[in-house]
Amino acid sequence: MLKILRLLLFVNLTFTCGEPIQAESFKAAGIASAHPLATKAGYEILEQGGNAFDAAVTVSAVLSVVEPYSSGLGGGGFFLLHSVEKNESIFIDAREKAPSMANRDMYLDENGDVLRTASLNGPLASGIPGLPAALHHVANKHGSMPLYKLLQPAIVLARNGFPAYERLITALTVAERSRTLSPKFKAVFMPNGKLPNVGEVIKQPELAKTLEIIASSGQEGFYSSFFTETMIEEAREDGSIWLADDFKNYSVVEREPITINFLGAQLTTAPPPSSGGTTIATILNIISEFDFSRMDTSTRAHLIIEAMRRAYRDRAFYLGDPDFVDVPISKLISKEHALDLAQTIDMEAATPIHKDDQLDGKLAWNEGAHTSHFSILDMNGNRAAVTQTINTWFGSGYMLPSSGLILNNEMDDFSAKPFAPNRYGLVHGEQNSIQPNKRMLSSMTPTFIESDRGLAILGTPGGARIITMVLLSILDYFDGGDAKSMTASKRFHHQFLPDVIRYEKDTFSDEVLKGLETKGHTLQEISSYGNMQVVTWENESGKVESSSDPRGIIEGYDIDFY
Ligand code: GLY
Repeated sequence: MLKILRLLLFVNLTFTCGEPIQAESFKAAGIASAHPLATKAGYEILEQGGNAFDAAVTVSAVLSVVEPYSSGLGGGGFFLLHSVEKNESIFIDAREKAPSMANRDMYLDENGDVLRTASLNGPLASGIPGLPAALHHVANKHGSMPLYKLLQPAIVLARNGFPAYERLITALTVAERSRTLSPKFKAVFMPNGKLPNVGEVIKQPELAKTLEIIASSGQEGFYSSFFTETMIEEAREDGSIWLADDFKNYSVVEREPITINFLGAQLTTAPPPSSGGTTIATILNIISEFDFSRMDTSTRAHLIIEAMRRAYRDRAFYLGDPDFVDVPISKLISKEHALDLAQTIDMEAATPIHKDDQLDGKLAWNEGAHTSHFSILDMNGNRAAVTQTINTWFGSGYMLPSSGLILNNEMDDFSAKPFAPNRYGLVHGEQNSIQPNKRMLSSMTPTFIESDRGLAILGTPGGARIITMVLLSILDYFDGGDAKSMTASKRFHHQFLPDVIRYEKDTFSDEVLKGLETKGHTLQEISSYGNMQVVTWENESGKVESSSDPRGIIEGYDIDFY
């Protein structure tokens, strides 16, 4: 069975060797983002003659203002860009970095136990933000319009305000119940000590000023100025260990994306410090070792789950910041490694966790909606897939008083102690331990698919589950799914530890559920999760389709779309 599909794959590989798609092939643009105001602002930039990278800067900045629970200038992100003119894809790593005063055991008590909330709440949980540097870098190196123009829509929305909506209020309710929110945070989002009503205008004047500083002085304004000193002073007063040099030395890194050949198509996706690309490559390579396309639903689900289990185990043991540790990427994404792993799969039974792997996996918290993804295709075929985050709902729950920045709590994505689960229940080894100036491992997975059908640009929020959501969308695309189906299809997830399959209602029929249980899997139905944003382009018709996840639709905004 293994060999048959290998042959099929080989035959299908011819497309990836084909000519690059030319700009003339594109007749329409598409943007999918988590908020209508961000999508609208992005389209306006394209209308004014901006390219996909200009629009990416605008959409990113607007999301930072209107979706403050997901991402923002106090956090970081990954920008996967493709330039048609250069026929080149690049990955801009704007991940936060640990402060230089950080150390491996900084979130442990005197007994060596993890101080669970220390890496989640307040300024000590916050890495050095990367998103402002990304806005500057993308606009200056890849865009065609000045940064100050690209940031105007975000500045206006921060200064004049935007109407509160259900999802924002839900996020505030969760945040208020689950953590300490800083006084400035409350003053902005809960004036008079009350949650806002739908439609109530939320203004962020300090954030508007911060955006203005970035608009006029770029990287230097944010990372190396009097403004920076004030931010650091305020953060340190409330427990941060940030230093001025941490900001001065911060820069984004352009990295080569991971490319995967699958069923004759090329996938371009996120390299470390994202774990997304390598984990997806391993899963796809494993399932390619089987006659996957002819399997019944139950067998197929079992195979995907077993592949997820193995790839997430690799994630836990091998992945970390490639600037600090050796990550064996070529081995992890190789066909040989996948074959070795595939040969350990029993198609009749779930693989029990080995006694050496009895690590401390616990169930993750709800992780459906924080972090934000958007996808852009411009009229010339340039593409942007961007995932940005402040980690959990409203990050650390701490807002810097004079800059209006909500600080990330990305330090929780490090391993506070080897193989102790983080907020997402994910375990990591020494590769992802805390070191000064190191980037913490991420699951964010902005991705392009280029096939004989056309293109897809995709990604989603969702913590540890980002990777399996992107994987399932890729598989849906190869099953013939369009953008709508890629965003709407039901989801399931296995992350090695805890050893449980989590799935959305109606993902599996009763028969499949029974089959999986009989094979020894533990299953847990959970509420729906994710907020996938997909843009597709069809080769033959030239049709562009943009689709936002039905799970994340924000109602009540009357906006004309293209
Ligand atoms: N903070 C979530 C991630 O980067 O994976």
